[in-house]
Amino acid sequence: GAGELKDGVTGGPSKRSRPAPSLPTEASLYAGPFPFYRRPSELGCFSLDAERRYHGDSRALRYFAPPPAHGSAPDFDLREGYPERYRPRNEEIREGLDHLLRWLLEHRGQLEGGPGWLAGAVVTWRGHLTKLLTTPYELREGWQLAASRLQGTLYLSEVETPAARAQRLTRPPLLRELMYMGYKFEQYMCADTPGGSPDPSGEVNTNVAFCSVFRSRLGTHPLLFSGEVDCIDPKAPSTQPPACYVELKTSKEMHSPGQWKSFYRHKLLKWWAQSFLPGVPRVVAGFRDPEGSVRSFRTFPTMEMFELIRSDREGWNPSVCMNFCAAFLSFAQSTVTQDDPRLVHLFSWEPGGPVTVSVHHGAPYAFLPTWYVEAVTQ
Ligand code: A3P
Ligand code: MG
Ligand code: MG
Repeated sequence: GAGELKDGVTGGPSKRSRPAPSLPTEASLYAGPFPFYRRPSELGCFSLDAERRYHGDSRALRYFAPPPAHGSAPDFDLREGYPERYRPRNEEIREGLDHLLRWLLEHRGQLEGGPGWLAGAVVTWRGHLTKLLTTPYELREGWQLAASRLQGTLYLSEVETPAARAQRLTRPPLLRELMYMGYKFEQYMCADTPGGSPDPSGEVNTNVAFCSVFRSRLGTHPLLFSGEVDCIDPKAPSTQPPACYVELKTSKEMHSPGQWKSFYRHKLLKWWAQSFLPGVPRVVAGFRDPEGSVRSFRTFPTMEMFELIRSDREGWNPSVCMNFCAAFLSFAQSTVTQDDPRLVHLFSWEPGGPVTVSVHHGAPYAFLPTWYVEAVTQ
């Protein structure tokens, strides 16, 4: 590219080192038309049980069961059961892409898209892509993504930053309770069977998850990613995933236009990015009072979220998010040229700076498990 010419490197060994490549993240650089994004389709799913064991089925899928729309105002106490009926997942266990790789190993023979589709794809978690989408607007939390290429496919797996780890280990009790409250809301809003009623008397076990596996394409980049789905709406007009899926969220009750504006600028961006990627059409939010009780609901159609911020000069723009993500994927594809499951290019970003790259071999950064590498290379 132009960078190489400017540096005067004409190929072959050179005493002058190339400037390390990096990717800028300023939002103004990524304005422009919305890029191509293939309508996401569901390739399959898997479930994780109360002991975090993998099952190649939908047993952990729950059914959207909101209270009657015209009944009395809701009064869901989100702190009820805390901490005695809380079984939080052990966050010390680094799962990487393992569950998704297990699904992929069991289904790679039946993947659509024709021969070689997987070899040209990027495989990752939806949550990692969400972080990429919001990067041009993120002012607080950086990220690190490890990348390895195996048989053509580029795998991306997040690495917890030292700052994120320190925050997790010193998480204040109030923040722990707030996390519980998000999951408790799901328990109030979901039933175990279609048409059933929620049972808020059980424990809140965050080992349990229903994950859907999606296929899409951003620009020239075929994508295979998995993400947790909160519930399916048995009454949705379309029974076809992801159109029938509902994302549940909680947030503080708002009382002034200024509070709404700030909510649209910051939280709604994250909600949009998370649900737009898999094509989940609706986010149902419960707004809690200072005591932690949900007092009202509001449904946000994913495709209408941008309208709420469009006129705000300091707001976000979906095109910027998607163009940046496409630029990152191009950057990663051109940086990781060697096919080697032990080789890791670590992409690091801190707010205010560009995405930078460092190269590592083997532990602790290598993330493709031996059982996966051996199975796909025979
Ligand atoms: P809320 O987002 O309603 O607070 P999700 O909304 O993605 O389905 O996640 C369910 C809940 O997990 C969240 O509910 C929140 O309680 C917790 N959670 C998810 N991501 C989190 C994060 N990055 N930090 C803290 N809690 C998180
Ligand atoms: Mg969820
Ligand atoms: Mg949710």
